[in-house]
Amino acid sequence: MANEILIPPIIRIGGGAIADAPGVLKDLGIRRPLIVTDGYLVRSGVAEWLRHQIEQAGIVCGVFTETVPDPTTEAVAAGLRAFVQGSHDGLVSLGGGSPIDTAKAIGMLAANGGRARDYKVPNRIPKKGPLHLAIPTTAGTGSEVTRFTVITDSETEEKMLIAGATLVPNAAIVDFELTMTMPARLTADTGTDSLTHAIEAHVSRKANAFADAFAMTAMKTIWAELPTAYREPGNRRAREAMMLGATQAGMAFSNASVALVHGMSRPIGAHFHVPHGLSNAMLLPAVTAFSMEGAERRYAECARAMGVADPSDGDAVSGRKLVDALFERNRELEVPSPKKYGISEGRYLQLIPTMAQQALASGSPQNNPRVPTAEEIEAIYRQIWE
Ligand SMILES: [Fe+2]
Repeated sequence: MANEILIPPIIRIGGGAIADAPGVLKDLGIRRPLIVTDGYLVRSGVAEWLRHQIEQAGIVCGVFTETVPDPTTEAVAAGLRAFVQGSHDGLVSLGGGSPIDTAKAIGMLAANGGRARDYKVPNRIPKKGPLHLAIPTTAGTGSEVTRFTVITDSETEEKMLIAGATLVPNAAIVDFELTMTMPARLTADTGTDSLTHAIEAHVSRKANAFADAFAMTAMKTIWAELPTAYREPGNRRAREAMMLGATQAGMAFSNASVALVHGMSRPIGAHFHVPHGLSNAMLLPAVTAFSMEGAERRYAECARAMGVADPSDGDAVSGRKLVDALFERNRELEVPSPKKYGISEGRYLQLIPTMAQQALASGSPQNNPRVPTAEEIEAIYRQIWE
């Protein structure tokens, strides 16, 4: 079977690359873009600086700032109104995964109509949206290069996975200088999200040689550099490496897939508002231990790439060392259990069957090397509680 490989046709990578934004918009032929961003980037002045740069180049530019973490259908609807009322012809997303995912959904609905839930996996998105330049400000989701958006249904609280070739941005500007002010917690969580992308892409049932190359280099880099970026926010070398690693991990999972960690992570985020990377971190060691028997050789390759196993170790030993290293890394990055995070125990236990059904419905667990039953997913949710 052929693998369909998709990446943005224009990618500019490097410190200061955001200055290329007006030129990229001209190359794309966008004449009236809407910047989709959030309150933090408005307060920091970056959004206004970008708008000024674009307008200096003679391009009329609007700004939509009302995106929210874990973007909701309500926030997308507001963005769509701004896009239509301003007669915009393109999108510039500026921010972490939330503004980028919001812009993807705005574009999808502008072209196709209907509601976000009409397009959730496994449904298809028929028409291409307006052209989209994505500018990430976290080293995390990789959304600037992926075919996915995750939108929370405001009515049902479900975190919906939406996938399609039309969601791949037309251009990405990957500028690590935008990440220099990320606080430590956000650095740890978004970095662990990237690591999870790389590992899940490599062990996925949809893994392929193209995606593997990005997955292996990304996990090696992220594993080595994340503790430094966490402890020394101003370390430019670590920030640059993390930013590149996050984008490469995005290329990996967009062209392979994520798996059980992401499948189980989305419901935790939807019901308890745990940041995405943090709920991944809560799950990654336990899910890796559960999944090991389905892809021992592939997990061993991860362990060797990350340098947590010796080249002479066999696959079984390497796999065990990987699980141990992931538990240890969570201690180093001070990842809390759901209990320590402050989630209500009664509500968590009560929602476990629902979360298991939502995880399975997303399709991601079916890409896992060991495909779990609903009961096995429920057991993992109980196992990670404290
Ligand atoms: Fe993710």
